[in-house]
Amino acid sequence: MHDVIRDAHSLTLAAGHLHRVGNARDRRFTLVQILGTDEHAVHTAASALAEGKLVAIPTETVYGLAADATNGDAVARIFEAKGRPHFNPLICHVSHIAMAERYAEIDPLSRRLMDAFWPGPLTFVLPLKPDAGIHPLVAAGLDTIALRMPRGVAGKIIAALDRPLAAPSANASGKISGTSAKAVADDLGQKIALILDSGPSEVGLESTIVKVQGDAVLLLRPGGLAAEDIEAVIGNKLERIDQRAAIQAPGMMASHYAPSAVVRLNVHEVREGEALLAFGPERARGAELAATSLNLSETGNLREAAANLFDFMKRLDGSVSAVIAVEPIPFNGLGEAINDRLVRAAAPRALSTDEMDQIK
Ligand code: TXA
Ligand code: MG
Repeated sequence: MHDVIRDAHSLTLAAGHLHRVGNARDRRFTLVQILGTDEHAVHTAASALAEGKLVAIPTETVYGLAADATNGDAVARIFEAKGRPHFNPLICHVSHIAMAERYAEIDPLSRRLMDAFWPGPLTFVLPLKPDAGIHPLVAAGLDTIALRMPRGVAGKIIAALDRPLAAPSANASGKISGTSAKAVADDLGQKIALILDSGPSEVGLESTIVKVQGDAVLLLRPGGLAAEDIEAVIGNKLERIDQRAAIQAPGMMASHYAPSAVVRLNVHEVREGEALLAFGPERARGAELAATSLNLSETGNLREAAANLFDFMKRLDGSVSAVIAVEPIPFNGLGEAINDRLVRAAAPRALSTDEMDQIK
């Protein structure tokens, strides 16, 4: 088998293709099966999940590394595959609101927001129904659970399995979230058997996480649904937590989105040899000195920028430049989440250890 594919990037099969991952020099390759999103793929994924295996599945935000949330062994495998330093609580994905009701207490305001935005890039932290069957490892022993109903084929898989799926973003811990099947295969292909491919993620940023407290809606993580959209439904401003103080969403540690290159933000003047992450129609001074450059959105469209962010960061990180210079990006709409991810990417690596200690 190895001989057959030695020089090929991937091997096309009738039902999909096998993607070669591993070190080309020692020829120890692993094969990860990549399927599309047809009925056969949904069935294959649901069967694998029912057996306690990990499957990488597309959602509208980013690809998720999914396991049956009621199976502790399977959930533990997620942490193993991601190489997560700690048991951070994971988002649990449901196929309909009735499934969410089985596992969490849903207050009327959360319910209103679910009606408005599900399926979609909005996650709720809710009181967990303790004996309903979600394995305690999913919530890392907390008495709350983060629930989300994703768009796309993920919902079909969850409905077929009739169990919720615990699924963090499909990337090794500290790496950029996977927004394509190829990115997932390159990052985690040696740890998982199956990836479903639905092309590049539509939103490209993880979901927005909120928690309702009385009449207030707390923004725990800015993400793929803009704060303004939620505010339009509730008729109120969201409350923001101090990102450095309370680590209510522990996955938010500063260096969570760490490229290998040094990241310089709000750059008005590009230095020679830097990789430039541009935004909008106007260029920073010295842009022509950049070794390479990618524009998140030529027209300054934040939605387009969000969808390109992780892919472009990954590509610039893989270039020869040791520094990624990022042009200023406005803070409105999805700009809040884009800036949040960029600040984390720019955080000095030493910070992560400190912050990890805080959440032990
Ligand atoms: O778009 C997304 O949300 C993607 C896709 C795959 O759905 N998933 C994702 O999951 O980003 P993950 O595990 O990478 O991020 C989970 C976040 C973390 O910041 C975690 O701390 C927070 O959710 N979280 C989970 N359960 C929580 C809880 N009970 N209370 C507070 N935060 C929680
Ligand atoms: Mg993640």
